[in-house]
Amino acid sequence: MGPLPSCALGDVYTVPRGYDDWSTTLVDRLLRVEATYVPPDLMRVSEMGIAGGGSIRGVAAADTRAMAKAARAAGAPIGVWSGYRNYEQQTQLFNGYVTQNGFDSAITYSQRPGHSEHQLGLGVDFMSAGGGNPLPGDWGKTPAGSWMRENAWKYGWVNSYPRGAGGSRWNDRSCFRYEPWHYRYLGREMAAKVHASGLTIREYLWNNDTMLDRNGTLIAPATSMPSASASTSASPSASPSPTTPLSGTPSDPSVAATAAGPAVDPAKPAASGSGLGAPALVAAAAVLLGAGAALAVAARRRRSRRQVE
Ligand code: DAL
Ligand code: ZN
Repeated sequence: MGPLPSCALGDVYTVPRGYDDWSTTLVDRLLRVEATYVPPDLMRVSEMGIAGGGSIRGVAAADTRAMAKAARAAGAPIGVWSGYRNYEQQTQLFNGYVTQNGFDSAITYSQRPGHSEHQLGLGVDFMSAGGGNPLPGDWGKTPAGSWMRENAWKYGWVNSYPRGAGGSRWNDRSCFRYEPWHYRYLGREMAAKVHASGLTIREYLWNNDTMLDRNGTLIAPATSMPSASASTSASPSASPSPTTPLSGTPSDPSVAATAAGPAVDPAKPAASGSGLGAPALVAAAAVLLGAGAALAVAARRRRSRRQVE
């Protein structure tokens, strides 16, 4: 395993990010999707036999239903506290946290819009059924939280933000603070692989499926990526550089090769998500620069997690 990108912030369009690439699409502090990224198969979780509100992708329905049933049978019933959030909702949420606690704090527990697994429709903040907000205390120690830690992967769900080295709340492999309630749906096959690897989702996908090198440059196998398609999906390399240089030595081809590794499957199409390019980046920049008006509006309209679903 080669060096991972550091936890530096950036705005690079992740590859792959087509709606069919849901199990291998990675978002983190660097990688993002467009503001217009709205999964086509959103479905109410109430139709999946699980308590709580909101929606997630239909691709997760059968496994989520089975998981909720198994958790209930084990005496540890689970519910959904927060599922899909669109770009605007994530913007409101993140800006609200910035107003409350400042950017440097907010970025340790809330993703910037475009960077959230909630926008993928695959990220869920679980709760104990009937229990309410999982944030106070250590949900990982509740019956539902413990059951999920042991069993969720069997149903295709993996915790995105485990504790860091030495049990610390900050994890520099996920680049995020410990969130025992936040799981990402990967599908059973991918979840089993990630679980067996002992890696975080971020590490696993960076190493095996993300078609970018450590510098955020598209890895384009000549045989599989015709120039037309490459230019369509080349927004990553056209994106602004991360705010801080990434770790590793991206100019060294061996590093890029390691990054590509076995991940670059010549049969795999490049991202099919539509590239928004500059407009989305400008919008993101406006958000990041924290236009005062937007923050004021966010502060006035601050919503609870339940309200934003
Ligand atoms: N709280 C999770 C990490 C998010 O904002 O996506
Ligand atoms: Zn979450």
